[in-house]
Amino acid sequence: MLFKKLLSISMAVLATASTVQAAPTSKVTAAVAGQAFDHVFMIFLENTDYALAYSDPSFQSLLSSGILLNNYHALTHPSEPNYIASIAGSYYGVNNDGTYNFDSSYTSIVNLLEAKGLTWKTYQESMPSVCYTDSSYKSLYYRKHNPFISHQYISTNAARCKNVVPSTQLTTDLNNNALPNYSFFTPNIKNDGHDTTVGYAGKWLVNFLSPLLKNPAFISNTLVVVTFDEAEDYTDETNHVLALLLGDSVSSLKNTVDSTYYTHYSLLSTLESNWGLGNLGRGDVNKQLSNVFSFVAAKTGYQNVNVTNPPPLN
Ligand SMILES: *[C@@H]1O[C@H](CO)[C@@H](O)[C@H](O)[C@H]1NC(C)=O
Ligand SMILES: *[C@@H]1O[C@H](CO)[C@@H](O)[C@H](O)[C@H]1NC(C)=O
Repeated sequence: MLFKKLLSISMAVLATASTVQAAPTSKVTAAVAGQAFDHVFMIFLENTDYALAYSDPSFQSLLSSGILLNNYHALTHPSEPNYIASIAGSYYGVNNDGTYNFDSSYTSIVNLLEAKGLTWKTYQESMPSVCYTDSSYKSLYYRKHNPFISHQYISTNAARCKNVVPSTQLTTDLNNNALPNYSFFTPNIKNDGHDTTVGYAGKWLVNFLSPLLKNPAFISNTLVVVTFDEAEDYTDETNHVLALLLGDSVSSLKNTVDSTYYTHYSLLSTLESNWGLGNLGRGDVNKQLSNVFSFVAAKTGYQNVNVTNPPPLN
């Protein structure tokens, strides 16, 4: 639609203007301990409507281990802008899966984490080497599912880009008891369900998580978030996807359901609230779209809102 396109272009211009600011300083202030968790580990699966994921036996088998978020929403289509928004609080009007290189004025959660001395990494399955910048590898790794490499603040800085790693690094990090405070895990394009089915992705997920959920180096005071980048059905204005919270930080809430209205921006606001990170001033502060996961809000005193008339998110 032309109107939608014009709107997204003007939004992109606005977003660009608002991100032109002094380069972040290197001054690091100590983070207060996380109020609800010390580690967050996000796993993004692909292109599945809520009902389909919910009915899958693998996802059903995980419900008893955590909190089901049954009112969680992706932000747009196709995949890439959802990944960008999940770390940057805006998708800058991006409406395709192209190769983007946002200049260093484009901030993301990485800036906020580093400013507080918190560690981060993205684990990318089937990526062949650290800080790999090509668009794909062996039809398994895809840059469009790795929003970190699209940010020059990261990609052109060797020290930061060392944190964009092949997922094989996770075993090493756990053996060294060195899980970063923030981890973003992207499975390859088969394991995430994109080129396969939700059944395939669910089986992969259960196999992947089963040993990890028993490993203290992974699970201690960790919040694991499993979700999908977007719904498959482009006509669903709600872009409803399944999300699941697992890990020690939610162990007292196993087998519960949280029906608060959340979006991918909640991935940012929840971390900001947990660690007192400040904010990016984008979707992460849009009250309608950025409720904080309620078990965290309860600890930090954050006031969520009832969202009765959300904007179309398709
Ligand atoms: C960050 O992770 C380290 C290493 O596990 C942990 O000791 C520290 O408490 C975490 N920091 C915060 C503020 O959560
Ligand atoms: C949302 O609505 C419910 C039911 O009407 C109410 O109990 C709750 O306090 C409201 N929450 C907020 C944040 O306004």
